[in-house]
Amino acid sequence: MAMLLFRRILSGRNYCRRFSTSHPDFNDRKGLVLGVFEKEGEGHHLTEAAEGFDQSICGKLSELLEISGPSLKKGKSRLFYGLHEDFPCVAVVGLGKANAGVCGAENWDTSKENIRAAVSSGCRLLQDLEVNHVEVDGCGDAQSAAEGAVLGLFSYDQLKTKKKTKVITQLHGSTDSTGWAKGVVYAEGQNLARLLMEAPANHITPTAFANIIEEKISNAQVTIYKRSKRWIEQQQMGAFLSVARGSEEPPLFLELHYNGSPDSTQPPLLLVGKGVTFDSGGISLKPSASMDAMRADMGGAATVCASVVTAAALELPVNLIGLAPLCENMPSGKATKPGDVVKAKNGKTVQVDNTDAEGRLILADALCYGHTFNPRAVVNVATLTGAMDVALGSAATGVFTNSDWLWEQLHKASVVTGDRVWRMPLFQHYTKQVTDSQLADLNNIGKYSKSGGACTAAAFLREFVTLPHWAHLDIAGVMSNKDEVPYLRKGMSGRPTRTLVEFAAGLAKSC
Ligand code: BES
Ligand code: MG
Ligand code: ZN
Repeated sequence: MAMLLFRRILSGRNYCRRFSTSHPDFNDRKGLVLGVFEKEGEGHHLTEAAEGFDQSICGKLSELLEISGPSLKKGKSRLFYGLHEDFPCVAVVGLGKANAGVCGAENWDTSKENIRAAVSSGCRLLQDLEVNHVEVDGCGDAQSAAEGAVLGLFSYDQLKTKKKTKVITQLHGSTDSTGWAKGVVYAEGQNLARLLMEAPANHITPTAFANIIEEKISNAQVTIYKRSKRWIEQQQMGAFLSVARGSEEPPLFLELHYNGSPDSTQPPLLLVGKGVTFDSGGISLKPSASMDAMRADMGGAATVCASVVTAAALELPVNLIGLAPLCENMPSGKATKPGDVVKAKNGKTVQVDNTDAEGRLILADALCYGHTFNPRAVVNVATLTGAMDVALGSAATGVFTNSDWLWEQLHKASVVTGDRVWRMPLFQHYTKQVTDSQLADLNNIGKYSKSGGACTAAAFLREFVTLPHWAHLDIAGVMSNKDEVPYLRKGMSGRPTRTLVEFAAGLAKSC
């Protein structure tokens, strides 16, 4: 159908010469995405690039916009065919109000979000028409436009026979190629996390995860260590090992070092990600409905490792260490049983009353190990609790932190990226509920297990932190997308990779 449409468009008088079948570019089907702002009253307010395009075709675009219906509202789009020799298809997208800027109530930059959403929908419309080369209006913020394009076009179809058209995107009518290139790198970082999270657990085992990250590293300033089970044992990571022991897949502790700062002695920013490549719940087995989503229980590791890869691609002048304890949580004859007591790396004992509360166990050991690098700040990221999803849904990542400074840095970054964070409490109230254990120093579930589950999990992690600048990001609520974020298709979200990168970029500036 789409091909037929194309042939019809291409057979127009103006196109016969340029698109003759012998033309080498015949398979290069080009499209253009242009933006328009909302305008009070009559007419349309075209972006600079749209204005330029309109002039090149003697005002035909504004003429068609007038006759094709009411002024284009935010998120709405219209397709035009045969307007220009170079662009058989043009998608015009509504950007909302010009200069909307940062919205205090929404905690994000509305202009940037509008651009991402509009560009994404324009690119997808053209992709559905099998256009494989799309030029994109920078819409006054080329980075956001690039993010919208690259995030919007992503889909995980590696394992399908029929794949979506592969689209090349390129900036149109703007000189801000630096902003565009930056947006592409940010979005590709998030797409890497999406790919790792969406892929099935029989493809992304701990070993496969580490190999994929290794392949993605092209910057010589990054060193990767794939620590074996033997190393994990030597480190006395008894809590991590207690989770991995039910599985036939060996655990792996992934360690990435990026030395981007000109001062190699500068204390690093430490990122730690939960890497449970499949969470069945273990002996405390989960119900089978939706268990498949637990292939994304390595979302913390995916976003953290993708952030280090992205920071290195951007050559951010900052030292970063990324840690990812990777394993499966499975039931078996060898698996940890409810009531078992295990010993973490720092010597604290933990009664494992629920083997499904495994994320905090593997993070506990990773956090203890992370302290040996003397980091300036520690941020751990984890799909830790269903309770986090109950609390905030997919609106924002929950941040539990002992540092107002760290909170401000993360919040500032998230306003720019639109991938929001929201602060959550670390009261002693919750600590009491995890330090009251019959057999050990700690219990891995809160005393009143159903209430405040995200907060008791955070209080548990805090028992393994002695540094003044630590934040725990619970990303269980933002793990997947149905249609809430308009520029992400349905599937695992890769959130909050761009916020982590923006946060690292902010720290790089402030040192
Ligand atoms: N991986 C889950 C949390 C999760 C749930 C992430 C839904 C994403 C979507 C975690 O390991 C878990 O099972 N947590 C338990 C803790 C409980 C046993 C205290 C939970 O949230 O139910
Ligand atoms: Mg679990
Ligand atoms: Zn889990």
